[in-house]
Amino acid sequence: MKLALGLVVAFFSSVTFAAGGSTYPLEQIELDYTDKESLQRGLATYSHYCMGCHSLKYQRYERTATDLGVDHEIMVQAVVPSDKKIGDLGSIAMPSKGAAEWFGAPPPDLTLVARKRSPEWVYTYMKTFYVDPSRPLGVNNKVFPKVGMPHVLEPLQGLQHAVCDEVITRDNVIAQADLGSGQSLSERQCGSLEVVEGTAQLSAAEYDRLIYDLVNFLEYVGEPTKAKAHDIGIYVLLFLMLFFVFAYLLKREYWKDVR
Ligand code: HEC
Repeated sequence: MKLALGLVVAFFSSVTFAAGGSTYPLEQIELDYTDKESLQRGLATYSHYCMGCHSLKYQRYERTATDLGVDHEIMVQAVVPSDKKIGDLGSIAMPSKGAAEWFGAPPPDLTLVARKRSPEWVYTYMKTFYVDPSRPLGVNNKVFPKVGMPHVLEPLQGLQHAVCDEVITRDNVIAQADLGSGQSLSERQCGSLEVVEGTAQLSAAEYDRLIYDLVNFLEYVGEPTKAKAHDIGIYVLLFLMLFFVFAYLLKREYWKDVR
């Protein structure tokens, strides 16, 4: 009996592991890649906060500018690094070996991240960094336990604490460790996250909007033809509707004499 139970437990823990080590519920979002202003805001956030570490090496700056309706001159001034041309791919100068030593893992290219994970995963990931002094950078993440990335948007979102049996702070975590539970914060079941008052520059709704735009942009770079395909689809439908009217009139014309 004990063996059977052990096998069941082992099976379920391997299932959770396969799912990425976290069963944190993902927030659902409806992306809209026809919303050019949202994509432009996402591009701005990416170039300010992410481009220092993460490349978009399968996408040319020029393509992004054209698809998003950004003036090429502005793109060169605001986004394209000074040693690059607008026709270049969005690779970055950070050596991945050095980065792996600094962060424990190299920052992956983000061109396909929304495809590989899912837009919902990336959205929830950007919202669930929380204080965990047992981690080298002082933060952990709900959907990516033991993440090597710092919470680069912390000034905007504010400092988040996990609410467990009690609020985890830098001070009382040491007391907790002394209790010898042997579990790190990331392994403990702590439900919701709470932003510490006075640490955020943006309201919760503004931060959600910022991340939504960012994920919308990352989804677009993962499949830049989708925005175009959508436009073309509408024209095809309009054409078919128009064609139907003419076909119908023609049919009436032919059958007029038959009856
Ligand atoms: C200081 C460098 C740095 C900055 C800036 C940074 N990241 Fe990261 N990021 C990392 C590192 C390092 C990892 C790998 C973490 C690991 O594997 O533990 C990572 C991982 C990720 C992942 C998970 C990828 C995957 O599938 O495993 C996503 C998504 C991500 N970053 C998005 C962003 C976004 C969006 C921004 C801008 C708001 C950003 N990052 C800014 C260093 C950075």
